[in-house]
Amino acid sequence: MLTELKVPTHLARNHPALRKRGAVRTGKLLIEKATRIAGVGTLADKRVLDIGCGTRFTTSIINKNIPIGSYTGVDVNKSVIDFLKNQVEANDERFDYAHWDVENALYNKTGKPFNEQSEFAIDPSRRFDLIWMFSVITHQYPEETSALLKILRHYAAPEGLLLFTAIIDAGVDKFIDAFEDQPLMMAAYQNEYLLELVDSAGWTVEKSLPRDTENHPPLHQDVLLCSVK
Ligand SMILES: C[S@@+](CC[C@H](N)C(=O)[O-])C[C@H]1O[C@@H](n2cnc3c(N)ncnc32)[C@H](O)[C@@H]1O
Repeated sequence: MLTELKVPTHLARNHPALRKRGAVRTGKLLIEKATRIAGVGTLADKRVLDIGCGTRFTTSIINKNIPIGSYTGVDVNKSVIDFLKNQVEANDERFDYAHWDVENALYNKTGKPFNEQSEFAIDPSRRFDLIWMFSVITHQYPEETSALLKILRHYAAPEGLLLFTAIIDAGVDKFIDAFEDQPLMMAAYQNEYLLELVDSAGWTVEKSLPRDTENHPPLHQDVLLCSVK
């Protein structure tokens, strides 16, 4: 079992302000908060699927010794996944990773466009107790959000939960991509519209929490916790 992971700076996928506060530390705080919100007590017996995983949570789990049943990370960034496969998956059986080469206007411009029918990077027979996406829906068009939510529904165990963050803005008419010259740098959703996408993908919203106001910069945007419908 690995006890330390060092990530090269160019593979850290977080906002510089967050990195300054310590990616490992904020990752630990977020995992603890997600665990509390999901009401699961500990992740020691949970199979976690992290979409848009980057390197932060892997590093926190290893370096802060956070108990976890298993952790599966998926990302569109091949360099990140190659690093994690070589350094982590190969040395610690709790972890596995998959590269999903789909298009994202901010993170993977050359990937293939995807929809709910697209082949996903994970074996379709696998099921997970907790699926999470932190700062991922913040960078998706509505069609992509809808497709992701539908694809992930298939991977939830019968009592499985999905927790994700998004920017919810009452002043938005359905959806806005905030910066014209930086596609998907900041995608914001109207609450009712996001709830429609969640509902039509087969999830029930169990809890919703506002963005973090205790930390600067905030630890997370608005949070939705969903169960299988
Ligand atoms: C802002 S970073 C957040 C990383 C990590 N979730 C965290 O909170 O530390 C967004 C991540 O999502 C990944 N990503 C974007 N669209 C994706 C998609 N459709 N599927 C999987 N990963 C995606 C990016 O490559 C990037 O690593």
